[in-house]
Amino acid sequence: MTKEAPSILESIKSRRSIRKFTAEPNDDETINQILSAGIWAPSGKNNQPWKFAVIKSEALRKSLAPLTHYTKIIENAPCCIAVFLDHNLSYDRTKDCQAIGACIQNMLLTIHDMGLGAVWLGEILRNKEKVAELLEAPQNFELMAVVALGHPAEKGGKGKRKGLDEVVFLRR
Ligand SMILES: Cc1cc2nc3c(=O)[nH]c(=O)nc-3n(C[C@H](O)[C@H](O)[C@H](O)COP(=O)(O)O)c2cc1C
Repeated sequence: MTKEAPSILESIKSRRSIRKFTAEPNDDETINQILSAGIWAPSGKNNQPWKFAVIKSEALRKSLAPLTHYTKIIENAPCCIAVFLDHNLSYDRTKDCQAIGACIQNMLLTIHDMGLGAVWLGEILRNKEKVAELLEAPQNFELMAVVALGHPAEKGGKGKRKGLDEVVFLRR
């Protein structure tokens, strides 16, 4: 009997940030499936404000790595996806950032569903201009995050969340 696919809630709950990867590379088809999950995220007015840079080359990852405190993660991840907001497509910064967040979460869940691992890197944003320059991004692209991904070489943390009683402040 074939194993039933996990429910979406199970996938959401079992996804953990993975920060250690094996050296095994990811093929282009896999990366395209991940990007495809990203671009099917909702966006305000369906403006799809995201742009991506796929970074596989070791030389480029070595240049990117010192731009974050999380150097080792980028050095060791076989692939990184830098996610940008395209200001030429932007109409409302808050809504565009929300859409990019949805896009990134879609990618993280798809990566998890494929048995791969990933981590959303935000600390690198302190060097967003340098990252944009390194990746030859046009002037109108603003870095939103880097997703490091690959075959997991660790299980990930426990995964802790506050209880609903702590976060729901009104039910009427
Ligand atoms: C906006 C954002 C920025 C993050 N930046 C980093 C980062 O720079 N480095 C890192 O190791 N993890 C980063 N993370 C991952 C979080 O630390 C992680 O999602 C959180 O601790 C919950 O753990 P879990 O993903 O395993 O459930 C970031 C996550 C988000 C959503």
